[in-house]
Amino acid sequence: MSKGSEPRKADFVVVANRLPVDLERMEDGTQRWKHSPGGLVTALEPFLRARQGAWVGWPGVADVEVDPFADGDMWLHPVRLSTAEFREYYEGFSNATLWPLYHDVVVPPVFDRSWWDSYQRVNQRFAEAAAEVSAEGATVWIQDYQLQLVPAMLRELRPDLRIGFFLHIPFPPVELFMQLPWRTEIVRGLLGADLVGFHRPGGAQNFMWLARRLAGFEPSRAQVGVRSRPGVVQVGDRVVRVGAFPISIASGELDQLARTREVQQRAKAIRSELGNPRRIMLGVDRLDYTKGIDVRLNAMYELLSEGHATVEDVAMIQVATPSRERVEHYKQMREDIERKVGSINGEFGRVGHPAVHYLHTSVDRKDLIAFYCAADVMIVTPVRDGMNLVCKEYVASRGDLGGSLVLSEFAGAAAELTSALLVNPHDLDGVKDSMLAALNIDQAEGRRRMRALRRQVLTHDVDRWARSFLEALGASPTE
Ligand code: ADP
Ligand code: G6P
Repeated sequence: MSKGSEPRKADFVVVANRLPVDLERMEDGTQRWKHSPGGLVTALEPFLRARQGAWVGWPGVADVEVDPFADGDMWLHPVRLSTAEFREYYEGFSNATLWPLYHDVVVPPVFDRSWWDSYQRVNQRFAEAAAEVSAEGATVWIQDYQLQLVPAMLRELRPDLRIGFFLHIPFPPVELFMQLPWRTEIVRGLLGADLVGFHRPGGAQNFMWLARRLAGFEPSRAQVGVRSRPGVVQVGDRVVRVGAFPISIASGELDQLARTREVQQRAKAIRSELGNPRRIMLGVDRLDYTKGIDVRLNAMYELLSEGHATVEDVAMIQVATPSRERVEHYKQMREDIERKVGSINGEFGRVGHPAVHYLHTSVDRKDLIAFYCAADVMIVTPVRDGMNLVCKEYVASRGDLGGSLVLSEFAGAAAELTSALLVNPHDLDGVKDSMLAALNIDQAEGRRRMRALRRQVLTHDVDRWARSFLEALGASPTE
C-alpha cells in the first residue's frame, strides 16, 4: 500500500460500507491493515483489483481520519465514522434493524428513531465522498443494505453518473419489509439507481411491488429472469431496471490454489493432527445467528448420543470469524454456541478427541482452502442467507471430486447448487439424515454430485456476475 500524491478521479467507483482492508490498532500503538471480513469483500475485491477503480468505504475503526491511498491499482477512499455513528448507523440501524428484518426476522429488529437519523447522515456522507472521487460520467456501483439511501442522494449531487446498486443480503417478503417505519424512504433511495440488483428474481419482484405500493411508480409485469429480462420501473422521465444477479467467487483462482503442493500438504497435516479420523466434517462462517451454527451442533449432539457417530470416527471442526461483537444478539448467540460446544465436548470428548474443534478466529486464505480440501463433509446450514459463498468456495477447492456438501435450502446458493444434499435447517431429523448420508456416501455418488456442483461454480464465477450486472447497467466493464 502506498500514499498517493493527489486522490485521482475514477471512471469506475465501488461504494461499500467497508473498505476491502480494515485498520487494526496493535497494543504497542502501531497499526496495520488486514483483510476485511465477509462475502462482499471476497467477491468484489478481485474484480476491482483487475480494473484500477476507486473504492469508497469505512476503514473499520471509529474516529480515525485516514487519507486516501493506493493499494496496488486500486484507489482507496476512506470515509470517517464517529463513535456515535458506529453505534447508531453501523451496529444499530444496519445490524440490529435492517440485518434481522431482511433475514426473515430471525431475531426481532429494533426500530429506533435516532439510529435512523444517523443512517441518513452517514449515507449522505458516503454520497458526498462518491461524488468527489467520480470522474465526469463515471460508473458508480453502490453495495449493500448499509447504503440504501446513497443512490438517490448521489443522483441529486451528480446527475451525470451511471449508478448501480446491488443488495448482498436477501430482500425480504413484502409483509416483513412493511414493518419498517422508514420503508418509503428506503424504496425511494434505491430508486435513485439506474439498476437495482438482487441475488434472486423473488427479491426483484418484491422490490417492484413495493415501488408501486409505497412510491406510486408503475413497474413492468413480466417475470424477472436470472441475469436476463430485468424488470423496469418508470420513475418520472427515468427508467430504473431491476434484476437478479447471483453473486459468486473467483472460482478458477481457488481451484488452482487448492491444487498447489503447499495447500495439499497443509490439508494432509490437518488430517493427521486430528488423528486421521475416518471423516472430517467442517463448518466455516462469520459468527452470525443467521448461519445456523446451532443447527449443526444440535444435529451432531444427537448423532453422537444415538451412537450414529463416535468422536474417534468423525472429527467436527467449526471455524467462526468474530463478527459485530458488541451487538446484543451476537453476544447472546456467541454465549449459546460456546456453551453448546462445551457441553458436547464435556459429554462425548475423549483425551485427544474433542467432539467439536471450535476456532473463534479468522484464518488465512491458504489455511482456509486447506481446511476445505481436508473436509469430507462441508456443512452449511443458514436459516437465511442471501447467497453464501462458503459453499461455493468448498466446491471450487475440490478438484479431486472428493467431499460432500450439505446445504440449507434457505441459502441463495441452493437455487444453483442443486446437486448438494439440500436440507431444511428447521427440520432437525432431516439435517441429521443428510449429515449421516454425507458421512457415508458411496464414492461414485459423491463424485457425481461434486462434478455437477463444480460445473456450476466454475462456469459462474464472480467475473461473470460483475459483467452481467455492469452490462445490464449499460456500463461495459473494461479490463
Ligand atoms: P457472509 O458474507 O454473510 O459473511 P458468505 O458465506 O457469503 O457469508 O461469505 C463469507 C466469506 O468470509 C467467505 O469468503 C469465507 O471464506 C470468509 N470466511 C468466513 N469465515 C471465515 C474464517 N473463519 N476465516 C477466514 N475467512 C472466513
Ligand atoms: C455480509 C454483508 C456485508 C458485510 C459482511 C461483514 O457479507 O453483506 O455487507 O460487510 O457481512 O460484516 P461486517 O458488519 O463486519 O462488515
